[in-house]
Amino acid sequence: MTDSQKGLAGVTAADTALSRIDGEEGRLFYCGYDIHPLAEQGSFGESLYLLWYGELPSRMALTVFEGLLAGERRLPAEVESVLRALPPETAPMAALLTAVSVLGQIDADGPNNGFQADIEKAGRIVSMIPVCVAAHHRLRLGLDPIEPDPDLSLAEDLLRMLTGERPDDVASKALDKTLLLYLDHGLNASTFACRVVASTLADLYAAICAGVAALSGPLHGGANEQAMRMLDAIGSVDRVDAYLDRELGANRKIMGFGHRVYRVEDPRASHLRRMAEELDGLHGEPGTYELARAVEQAMFARKGLYCNVDYYCASVYRSLGVPLDLFTPLFAVGRAGGWAAHVMEQHRDNRLIRPRARYTGADERPYVRIDQRND
Ligand code: CMC
Repeated sequence: MTDSQKGLAGVTAADTALSRIDGEEGRLFYCGYDIHPLAEQGSFGESLYLLWYGELPSRMALTVFEGLLAGERRLPAEVESVLRALPPETAPMAALLTAVSVLGQIDADGPNNGFQADIEKAGRIVSMIPVCVAAHHRLRLGLDPIEPDPDLSLAEDLLRMLTGERPDDVASKALDKTLLLYLDHGLNASTFACRVVASTLADLYAAICAGVAALSGPLHGGANEQAMRMLDAIGSVDRVDAYLDRELGANRKIMGFGHRVYRVEDPRASHLRRMAEELDGLHGEPGTYELARAVEQAMFARKGLYCNVDYYCASVYRSLGVPLDLFTPLFAVGRAGGWAAHVMEQHRDNRLIRPRARYTGADERPYVRIDQRND
């Protein structure tokens, strides 16, 4: 492996008909549809349908699809009791990983990898992940989980299950749009993890567990939480330069900036920047947007780096009143639909994903019995 291939950079490792990224032009497509009109005029449910069935739904098809998913929005007793047993300090992404694993154990179709079983399980997973995220959050606060309401959209219900209050239209639509923007993105690390697991013919739940685990890291989904922590640490526009001097001087990464594929701005970032500006101060003090914009401009001036999807999503989630450590679980709520689509694609046309490693260790040497080794 050459140094330039480290991290599989530039390596094409799967065929997909789901999303296409043009990193040079800064464009993203779901099944051939540009992300911009989807984000401006579409919805998360519609984009999810598109990824799973390959076509945009009619109004009737979307109503039926969303109705079916809403009917699956529940918290199984087995999951609730496991979440209750977790230590209160359990990180929400770790709790989610546990919950998805339990969901797999109680689904009678768990090990069935047929298309019909997979798509029904996918519906259950996408519907129950937000319930699990909200339930764990309530439980760690010493509160009981709030029952899902199938009459509400997934985004509206998720905010209600977290806070106990029904959100207004602005907040629900904003969350819905972030879920749409997070839905799928080529062979990112968590999606690749899902496909590797699915390629062993392990089931959808096992594959989604791999996706949740991969997403939790700060170089991937964890970046939205870390970006907000950074803005909180900087605190005000006049401290941006000193912060960047120190961090970049110490060769540390600035969270929410840079991308493996995009050479220009991440097309999702423009929607999130606009939303961050519009929603600034909806919850808490205004000013997050101004600060985020100052960091963005300073990063471009110093490093020529653009922000990625996670950067302004952090400001949006702050404005929606989402607790910091739930930023990445909300990413998982959106991305779960993409993971499921990739697992179904892998199961439909499978070959074991099994690359090779270049060996860089010791040359062959004779084994020495333990009683003959020097202390
Ligand atoms: N801050 C400072 N320098 C950076 C950053 C950053 N965020 N990102 C890249 N660079 C520099 C890096 O130091 C390197 O410079 P040089 O060539 O002088 O050594 C150059 O840019 C290339 O960086 P790299 O780490 O080799 O690039 P990569 O393709 O391996 O990594 C990345 C991509 C996203 C992991 C990286 O940009 C990064 O760590 N960003 C911060 C974490 C982050 O925001 N992750 C979210 C990614 S996008 C959405 C998602 O998946 O959640």
